[in-house]
Formats: sequence, structure tokens, C-alpha cells
Amino acid sequence: MFEHHRAPAPDPILRVMQEFAEDPRPDKVDLGVGVYRTADGRTPVMRAVKAAERRVLETQQTKGYVALAGDPAFHAALGGLVLGQAVAPDRLAALATPGGTGAVRQAFELIRTAKPDATVWTSAPTWPNHGAILDTLGMPRRSYRYYSPDTSELDRDGLFQDLASVGAGDVVLLHGCCHNPTGADLSLADWQAIGRTLSQRGVLPMVDLAYQGFATGIETDVAGLRLLCSMVPEVLVTVSASKTFGLYRDRVGLLLAICGTPGAARAVQGSLAWINRQSYAFPPDHGARVVTEILSDADLRADWEAELMGMRYRIRAMRHALADALRRETNTDRFDWLRAQNGLFSRLPATADQVEALRREHAIYMVGDGRINLAGLTPDTADRTARAIASALS
Ligand code: LMR
Repeated sequence: MFEHHRAPAPDPILRVMQEFAEDPRPDKVDLGVGVYRTADGRTPVMRAVKAAERRVLETQQTKGYVALAGDPAFHAALGGLVLGQAVAPDRLAALATPGGTGAVRQAFELIRTAKPDATVWTSAPTWPNHGAILDTLGMPRRSYRYYSPDTSELDRDGLFQDLASVGAGDVVLLHGCCHNPTGADLSLADWQAIGRTLSQRGVLPMVDLAYQGFATGIETDVAGLRLLCSMVPEVLVTVSASKTFGLYRDRVGLLLAICGTPGAARAVQGSLAWINRQSYAFPPDHGARVVTEILSDADLRADWEAELMGMRYRIRAMRHALADALRRETNTDRFDWLRAQNGLFSRLPATADQVEALRREHAIYMVGDGRINLAGLTPDTADRTARAIASALS
């Protein structure tokens, strides 16, 4: 069966992760995979996570199955963090999944079950795995304009022109905050205009939220999403706890399906549980339990919020350090747009050859499309990185 089997091309982000690991140069800089790092290059276990894990270890009495859709207490805790009071609980269906990627996959499965010919529209550019999963599922997809490489900013005119041509019953996939790979986010006014357009056209929004708390604040990062939920009857939201709680390898994700009526929510809840059953039966519970503990305990929650704020500040400090250093190196404001963007990522206007030269000559690693992870920088490496970028992109 496998004699002539050919492996698919590796994911472009994970390939950089692999190449970086294999590079023996001691001064290498990893701006590749989207994980948070401290100033000394670690991806730590958050303090509140450690404390919650200790509690779970001491108090958990069974490892018996929970439920196909996961623990309702987890749905309420993480769902509450995301949606606040924006949606009546009886209009919600929820599914615990292995990571945000699991939530995205199950959301697409739900769309395919409900409307097999629906086209899913993704931003140009988007996280490469969005397209890869849709292709694997054989689902129709198209892209809408989102970002202008010429200005390194949101392509607002292109975005709204393209959204105005999306057909009824199609799906538009948006990034909740910290757009991956560009860091160019929507304003509240943009969310409002999108809500108006999509509800007029009968389009289903799907919002992928992997970086809540990494842009400007835990609440402000979801203000646009909550506004959207108040404007359209149905929304799919996929949530990752990988970055926000630093639970990468524990695989903690949540799919929220906001439905028009309580009856529809009950039916969708049944479908979601069935989709999990077909995939892996029960979702992992340990990380979900930890998130539930943190969000339900005032002290743990306060400590988690404080640590997350520190992470956000560090990312922003590195963003500004790079922009400042690029100003000095180029003697221009050519890279000033970096300051206006949010979260881990921005995208340098670099060709594949320039990205390759940065790797080969300077041991600086980024994704082939020029995406950099600002959390991969430290006060020690920001200047050197800026010098290399200025010379490679001159
Ligand atoms: C990224 O975009 O680098 C992260 O979301 C990690 C991943 O799975 O691609």
C-alpha cells in the first residue's frame, strides 16, 4: 500500500522549527514558531498553571471519562472569558478539543455537515494550516483581501469590497486579535462594519481566537468579537489556550457555536459531540481542568492575569525595540508600521531569498513569508537582528 506513498510538503512554520533546532550556531535567533518566550529564551509554565496543576493532582479522584463534548464547567469558564455576557447561554453549543487546531478542524467538520457546499473565505494571508485543513477535508475555499504588503497595513478597501461579494450561506473566517501572520488587527469600527455586511448577506462568521490577552488586554482583545456576536445570529468561535495559558503541549481548545435559537443550539450540541466521537471520542481533560481551576478561583485568576500582562508588555517592548533599532539602522521610518501591530507576529516585506539569506548569513530564523515572532527577540538580540534585516532588505 505504501510503496509509492509520498509525504505531503511539511508545514512551513514547523519546518522552520525543525531547521532551527538542527542549527549548531550558538548565536542563532528563533523568530519562527509562534510561542511566547521570556527575555532569556524560555517558554515557562505559568505560575497559576503550576498552582492549579498541584491542586488537580491533590484533589482529582478519578481519571474516568468526562463527556464527549468535554466538561461543561470548562465550556462555561473559557467560554465566559471569551464571550462575557455577550450571548445568552441557551444559544450556545460548546465542544472541548485538543488545542485550537482541534477546534478549527471540528468547526470545519460542523460546517461540512451542515452545508457541504459552503465556501470558507480566509484572509490573504492567513495561518497556513487554515487552508491545509480545508484542503484535507476537500472543502471549497477562497480568500479575501486583508493586508497590503505595500503599506504593511490592513487593506481596508480590499477587505470590504471582497466581503461584499461573499455569497449567502458561505463562511468568513476572521482572526479575533493578533492576526497571524501580520499582526494587523481590525478596529472596533471595522468589526461593526463587518457585522453589518455579514448579517445583511446571510454569511456565517467564524472567528479564530488564539491570542486573547496578547494584544492590548484580556477584555479589549475580544471587544470586536463580542460586538460581532451582538450583531449576527450565528457565529463560530475557535479558542486556543496554548498561548494565553502557555499550555501548548497539553492541547486545550474550545469550539463555541452561537446559534439563533435554543433549539438550534441543542441540535448543534448533539452534532458536535458526535463529531468528537468520530475523531477521538473524548477530548483531553487535564489542561481543560487546569484552565477551569484558574478561571474559577479569584487568586489564581489574578495571578494569571498579572503574568499574562507581563508577557504582553514584553512582546510590545520587543516590538518597539526592533522598530527603534530599524530606525537607527536605516535612518528612515520604513519599518514604523511595526509599532501599530499586535501580538506575536508581524510580516517583513522580505522575499524568500532574503529570508534564506538571513538564515544562512545571520542565523536568524523566520517563516518563509517573512513572518517574525517578536517574542523570539531579547534586549540583547534586537539590535543585531535589526542590523541584519536592514542589510538583507536594503
Ligand atoms: C504558529 O502560527 O506559529 C503557531 O500557531 C503554531 C502552529 O501550530 O502553527
